[in-house]
Amino acid sequence: MTERPRLSVIGTGYLGATHAVCMVELGYDVIGLDIDQSKIDALRAGRIPFFEPGLPELLVKHMDSGRLRFTTDYAEVAAFADVHFICVGTPQQKGQYAADLTYVEAAFASLAEHLTRRVLVVGKSTVPAGTAARMADLLAERAPNKEVELVWNPEFLREGFAVEDTLRPDRLVFGVRSAWAEETIRSAFQPIIDAGTPVIVTDFATAELVKVAANSFLATKISFINAMAEVCEVTGADVTQLADAIGHDVRIGRRFLNAGLGFGGGCLPKDIRAFIARAGELGVDQAVSFLRDVDEINLRRRARTVEFGLELLDGSYHGAKVAVLGAAFKPNSDDVRDSPALDVAAGVARRGAEVVVFDPQANESARKLQPQLGYADSLEEAVAGADLIMLLTEWQEFRSMSPDTIAGLVSRRNLVDGRNVLDPVEWRAAGWAYRALGRP
Ligand code: UDX
Repeated sequence: MTERPRLSVIGTGYLGATHAVCMVELGYDVIGLDIDQSKIDALRAGRIPFFEPGLPELLVKHMDSGRLRFTTDYAEVAAFADVHFICVGTPQQKGQYAADLTYVEAAFASLAEHLTRRVLVVGKSTVPAGTAARMADLLAERAPNKEVELVWNPEFLREGFAVEDTLRPDRLVFGVRSAWAEETIRSAFQPIIDAGTPVIVTDFATAELVKVAANSFLATKISFINAMAEVCEVTGADVTQLADAIGHDVRIGRRFLNAGLGFGGGCLPKDIRAFIARAGELGVDQAVSFLRDVDEINLRRRARTVEFGLELLDGSYHGAKVAVLGAAFKPNSDDVRDSPALDVAAGVARRGAEVVVFDPQANESARKLQPQLGYADSLEEAVAGADLIMLLTEWQEFRSMSPDTIAGLVSRRNLVDGRNVLDPVEWRAAGWAYRALGRP
């Protein structure tokens, strides 16, 4: 093994594309593979096929260096790299809680077939406990006599901060089975380790569980504060003040205590559901049964937001023009997977409203998923003539709206703040009927 192993990244979605580009930035030679030719064409042309701040600039910077290339050919990848990162998706299975491992299994099997020498394979995808051991067996069966080894290395990057989280992660977790595997994975992260990043070396099962435990904790924290919001709504208390007050306790902490429309995206919802499913298979369903409540609290917030709008419109959405601000599951992203905002927009449209959505980045992806909704090209266009505004994703552009300017564009001054980011005093003073989740 050389000082600097050559790397491959298999799967060039959010995780893989970011990982590939960032590893080149850290000084490695990298080849990225995807079975989707259109993704590879885009990357070769220097285009990131999704919105992620800072990533396009890094891709362009490194495309000309000759240290980053992309392919659809497993043989090319196997010939090139010493360390292979598996970064394919594990979506929720249709109609079930369990994760769909088809892409992970296919990636391992395809790679194994082409391996010709001793290499390290690194699983990064979020998987149910027990998958790593199974993939190690698969490698042993499909690539016999090559002494191929496996490491499980969960990824904690957040969309919108993916570059920062990859270059400067708050920890590295390596699930390993041998000293060689540990030494090799360390060599693939040397610059990050040298920067003082904590490294936790574990067995396979712990490494797999670290990821689902971390996401379960984050989801629970959000649903905890949203459960408090439900109580605030019947007591007249203010959940944002409550969060500030309890957040000062360092044991609790203020981060991830923003009450509102709740969590969505490609990770938290499906990861807690996959965890519930896997715990059931392992006979420990009671241990994580609270996650069902976490999921339900989260979904109830969406229904409550629809109700708030209904109350402001005096009991009927029929014929009302509703401006929905935000479609992405969170700001600084164009990802609409399990997006609370888009879910509410569709719910309001089903109840007879004429919905016009505006998201600074996610209009295109939202239109693919909910083509029946109207879409506007700007905030001003979306709110023009509206009977109700629903702020559902807290983009900076929406947080800094002026109540007086917006009042001049709408038909009626009704506003639901689904993310608790506007100042109720200011908006009410400008004549708006203002409703927010968990606030009087
Ligand atoms: C998450 C994890 O944070 C990350 O570590 C993991 O690798 C992947 O899943 P991500 O899906 O990018 O990352 O989004 P995150 O920033 O965690 O937000 C998740 C959802 O929670 C968003 O819909 C967001 O709006 C919501 N959220 C977050 C809240 O409702 N309240 C909060 O206080 C924080």
